[in-house]
Amino acid sequence: MKYLAIVAALLFAGSAAALDCTECHEKVDLTVHQEAEATLATCNDCHGMSDAHTVDMELHTPELTITECADCHGMEK
Ligand code: HEC
Ligand code: HEC
Ligand code: HEC
Repeated sequence: MKYLAIVAALLFAGSAAALDCTECHEKVDLTVHQEAEATLATCNDCHGMSDAHTVDMELHTPELTITECADCHGMEK
């Protein structure tokens, strides 16, 4: 049920289901990240994200860009 609820939220409500990164982190400077062409596949080149977080690859694809992250996770400056 929980999984179905998340999928439904992704399809119909977008940001409603995703946690807000800024609850724990500084706001993300999107420009810096766009210039670096950051995608989910490259976050760990610069950050130890995988040490702290497990990103569910049924919900995410490696090509997601930082602006797409921000659409769902409310991380932007
Ligand atoms: C279409 C919406 C969507 C996009 C785009 C998206 N996410 Fe998510 N993300 C979710 C949902 C839904 C979850 C599962 C519920 C939750 O934990 O917020 C999740 C979970 C996560 C988690 C796990 C958080 C935790 O520790 O529990 C991380 C980290 C994460 N996403 C990072 C990213 C990053 C980085 C990007 C961009 C590369 C991204 N997400 C793009 C919707 C999205
Ligand atoms: C409940 C608190 C919490 C939330 C919400 C959270 N994080 Fe984290 N995150 C942490 C902790 C704790 C660490 C490990 C300590 C550190 O490096 O700051 C971490 C580490 C990271 C790192 C590596 C830091 C570095 O510079 O090496 C990245 C990148 C990251 N998180 C991204 C995200 C993204 C993207 C989201 C939103 C999807 C998110 N976090 C939501 C607590 C959180
Ligand atoms: C080319 C290197 C690079 C890449 C790739 C990159 N970042 Fe960053 N990121 C930085 C820099 C530089 C900062 C600002 C300095 C800092 O706070 O560490 C930053 C800051 C952040 C912060 C806020 C600082 C904090 O730790 O609270 C988050 C969250 C973050 N990045 C997430 C991501 C995510 C998610 C991805 C993958 C989509 C990503 N970054 C890819 C270089 C990068």
